[in-house]
Amino acid sequence: MIAFTDKVALLTGGTGGLGKAVTRAFLEAGAHVVAVYRTEAHRAELLEMVGDAAERLVTLSADVTQEDQVLAVVQQTVDRFGRIDVLVTMVGGYISDIPIAQMEEATWDHMIALNLKSTFLCCKAVLGYMLDQGSGKIITVGARGAIVPQPGSAAYAVAKAGVHALTQAIAAEVRGKNINVNAVLPGIIDTPINRQMMPKADFSRWVAPEDLARVILFLASDAARQIHGALIPVYGSG
Ligand SMILES: NC(=O)c1ccc[n+]([C@@H]2O[C@H](COP(=O)([O-])OP(=O)(O)OC[C@H]3O[C@@H](n4cnc5c(N)ncnc54)[C@H](OP(=O)(O)O)[C@@H]3O)[C@@H](O)[C@H]2O)c1
Repeated sequence: MIAFTDKVALLTGGTGGLGKAVTRAFLEAGAHVVAVYRTEAHRAELLEMVGDAAERLVTLSADVTQEDQVLAVVQQTVDRFGRIDVLVTMVGGYISDIPIAQMEEATWDHMIALNLKSTFLCCKAVLGYMLDQGSGKIITVGARGAIVPQPGSAAYAVAKAGVHALTQAIAAEVRGKNINVNAVLPGIIDTPINRQMMPKADFSRWVAPEDLARVILFLASDAARQIHGALIPVYGSG
């Protein structure tokens, strides 16, 4: 088990299918966690899941596609803890079965905002603090779907490809500054929503959120200090 005692981790999407496992993993490793969410019911599920560790968990409601709200979250985190050691950007969303010829402009814009703009805004806001404190770890979440796009999911594939490029661009910018920026690229994650959407699939071939959380914790640890700008496939056996 990697120890994160007294470290501060800011997790966007910390109440989601992946986010709950990542939040729990950082808490179990001893970190203080700030989990950003929107839906009250999902926050309640998270609090129930983490039990007593909730004393090291702060939940903040914000729309991370809006810069003023992202800046407020980052400022509240710094006001409370004085530092941000880790940022994990897990906000994202998927669409499929919409060929380009039928793609509404609003759908395209939504995919780019939810997956790419949210990542840009969070990285931008946190990097200022990490550069000042002289250390930090940023882990973004891309997708296999951007490496092997499926028909009907172009907007998602392009948005996640943007996340991959953004991750590598930021890593290049901060190289030599003791800040590591890397991405994990999941295949299908074994979340309740995916089980509901694909009830006949072989769930054992999907990536368990807990397995992905372990990879993210490793990237956030000192052991991964030589890894910069990596796009790490975490596909399971699917
Ligand atoms: N699931 C997969 O199979 C899969 C595969 C490849 C990549 N990914 C990527 O992995 C990441 C996590 O996926 P997931 O399945 O855990 O997603 P999820 O269950 O839908 O969770 C999404 C999270 O993002 C939050 N969120 C959504 N829109 C937001 C906004 N505008 N502002 C602030 N928070 C917002 C949600 O908050 P509330 O719940 O509180 O509303 C929730 O915590 C995403 O980036 C996704 O694209 C997923």
